[in-house]
Amino acid sequence: DKGNHRHFMAKEIHEQPEVVSHTLASFLDMASGAIRLPELPFDWRSLTRLTITACGTASYAALCAKYWFERFARIPVEVDVASEFRYREVPLEPGGLAIVVSQSGETADTLAALRYCKEHGQHTLAVVNVPTSTIARESDVIVQTLAGPEIGVASTKAFTCQLAALASLAVGAGRARGALSAEDEGRLVQALIEAPRLMATALRLEHEIEALAKDLVKATDVLYLGRGTSFPLALEGALKLKEISYIHAEGYAAGELKHGPIALIDETLPVVVIAPFDRIFEKTVSNMQEVAARGGRIILITDEQGAEAAAIPTLKTLVMPQMPATVTPIVYSIPIQLLAYHTAVLMGTDVDQPRNLAKSVTVE
Ligand code: F6R
Repeated sequence: DKGNHRHFMAKEIHEQPEVVSHTLASFLDMASGAIRLPELPFDWRSLTRLTITACGTASYAALCAKYWFERFARIPVEVDVASEFRYREVPLEPGGLAIVVSQSGETADTLAALRYCKEHGQHTLAVVNVPTSTIARESDVIVQTLAGPEIGVASTKAFTCQLAALASLAVGAGRARGALSAEDEGRLVQALIEAPRLMATALRLEHEIEALAKDLVKATDVLYLGRGTSFPLALEGALKLKEISYIHAEGYAAGELKHGPIALIDETLPVVVIAPFDRIFEKTVSNMQEVAARGGRIILITDEQGAEAAAIPTLKTLVMPQMPATVTPIVYSIPIQLLAYHTAVLMGTDVDQPRNLAKSVTVE
């Protein structure tokens, strides 16, 4: 049932404040401001390495998690797409932790990566949306995202729930490893609790984004740039746009711009810059200046402070609410998804069932 929405994807985008809130509630003790983790067969303090594998959108949630686990838990993290990981013969010290991330829990490559990790003595933890899935059954620990059934082929709410679950795990790991104080934990939990409300605020940008889609629909290529956790989001934004609108899009770490993609920039190229006002904002602004100097058309997604500090003419600046850095990938997913959605609607594609794609990729 699409409710009063035209597509399942629209409904699922709008459900996000609620389902992210449910997902967070299974980890956050609202009263004490602490993280509650599931019963684990390993000790976070003895882990020397974390390996995270996934495919597609789930792999971008995994990449975001790398930033969080490194920062909060001070643990070395390797993230890889499952299709590469499974054939690389990765050396793994027994006793490490392998996390797999999958909405369906049936993705063939992710399942194979999980089995490889088990065979090589890793503890396994699956972040899955379908608790009865094969990946869930074969993992030592299940962390369920409570996104509910996702019908649209393009993943939206499963992604933000994966981010919410992984952020909670990273904070919990940080606390268990003594890398975070109780005070740090309280502050991060507070930030996570705020995320659903901020997502609801971000959804109010929909009309502005719908208008912006009229520009995007004329493009043949779109570049997405971001730094830090906005880098995986740039990859996700590009994937979302290409898979449902069929417009070619690429996501890059903003700092990589001058190492190649800058050659693409001219007056016809929209460049979506994801840049909350954070400690690396100025670095992203200098990349934006490089784009502006070559006539690229910038769509800046930032907050009020960022909009003021950037001082660069843009095609459009989408002003997001101010928020703690930890939750930006969760909340900035909203404008990224809406932009892809409205562009696809204008293109007249089959938004919920894009050509050539399947919801669950059970063959490699
Ligand atoms: C993109 C998308 C895919 C999936 C990928 C993994 O919108 O939905 O990239 O994320 O096929 O699927 P799961 O999470 O089911 O393993």
